Amino acid sequence: MSLSTNTSNDTPVALTGDRPTGPLHLGHLVGSLRSRIRYQEEHCQQFILLADLQAMTDNADDPAKVARNTIDVAIDYLAVGIDPQKSTICVQSHIPELCELTTYFLNLVTVARLERNPTVKQEIKQRGFERNIPVGFLVYPVSQAADITAFQATLVPVGDDQLPMIEQTNEIVRRFNRTYGGHALREAKAVVPKVARLPGIDGKAKMSSSLGNAISLSASPDEIRRGVERMYTDPGHLRVVDPGCVEGNVVFTYLDAFEEDTAVVDDLKAHYRRGGLADRTLKQMLDDRLQCTLAPIRQRRREIAKDRDYVKDVLAAGTRHAREVATHTLDDVRRAIGLVAPSS
Ligand code: TRP
Repeated sequence: MSLSTNTSNDTPVALTGDRPTGPLHLGHLVGSLRSRIRYQEEHCQQFILLADLQAMTDNADDPAKVARNTIDVAIDYLAVGIDPQKSTICVQSHIPELCELTTYFLNLVTVARLERNPTVKQEIKQRGFERNIPVGFLVYPVSQAADITAFQATLVPVGDDQLPMIEQTNEIVRRFNRTYGGHALREAKAVVPKVARLPGIDGKAKMSSSLGNAISLSASPDEIRRGVERMYTDPGHLRVVDPGCVEGNVVFTYLDAFEEDTAVVDDLKAHYRRGGLADRTLKQMLDDRLQCTLAPIRQRRREIAKDRDYVKDVLAAGTRHAREVATHTLDDVRRAIGLVAPSS
């Protein structure tokens, strides 16, 4: 195991998190799960956070949903190939150091700055929070900054909707180091994959379980097929012989993300543009591709789900390790701030 508590300043450390509010879906696979598996193979130190506290910021009335999904998302991680011997999978609510760090950070950010965060702005609109924004929701980017810095992360593989969070994190880090001196915290770099964001099957900008436009990693063969059937293509492509448009055609976006043989996709695009390629045929190809991608994940998921004690043990060990690292950072942080230590 390459898990150590001390990270020297040049060790790359990757950190990502997911809100456990629903099953992980194809968007997660493209947006961050694949990068996590790559980091793990490249022997990068890596923390993967089940961000249940963040999930509570808009699910305060349904903690059971968050708890259930915490386990389910952990199963998703293990099923896609996250190896707990190489990556630390941990549960945010059981790392109280993150809350303490959030509290220090809250003094370094203005309300106006939080209200300008474009991702939060959009989420507030989506949830109808305009008139009544829970404080916890507005400040979740600050808690996310604590997640990233507590583990001294340098790399954050995320979809592009998370870029404002990393930007805000780095502002806080600079402000912290400037205000209290020293280099207790380090800045992180966002790593955005080639396909930065998978649209929903309805063509909306983001795939999301709560928008009902997602295909989950645990989808049955039938659910996959129905998802592909519902996919948005080119509304102007009325007859098979008509030339069709590839740009903005969700089926092609998905083929780009999931068909490794790019020559196959290029041929399909040329054929579609020329005319003569039916949407039905195209969708059949994508369906075959997705069935192949998801079948082994579904199979492993089923196996792992049988042994919930194993899943809980993985989370307990990961959270213990994560706490050690966070405790170490918090010692540095408190020392940098210089608050009175009641014990010597
Ligand atoms: N905000 C992220 C999301 O909605 C989840 C998250 C929480 C996260 N903490 C993080 C992502 C730290 C990256 C790093 O998906």
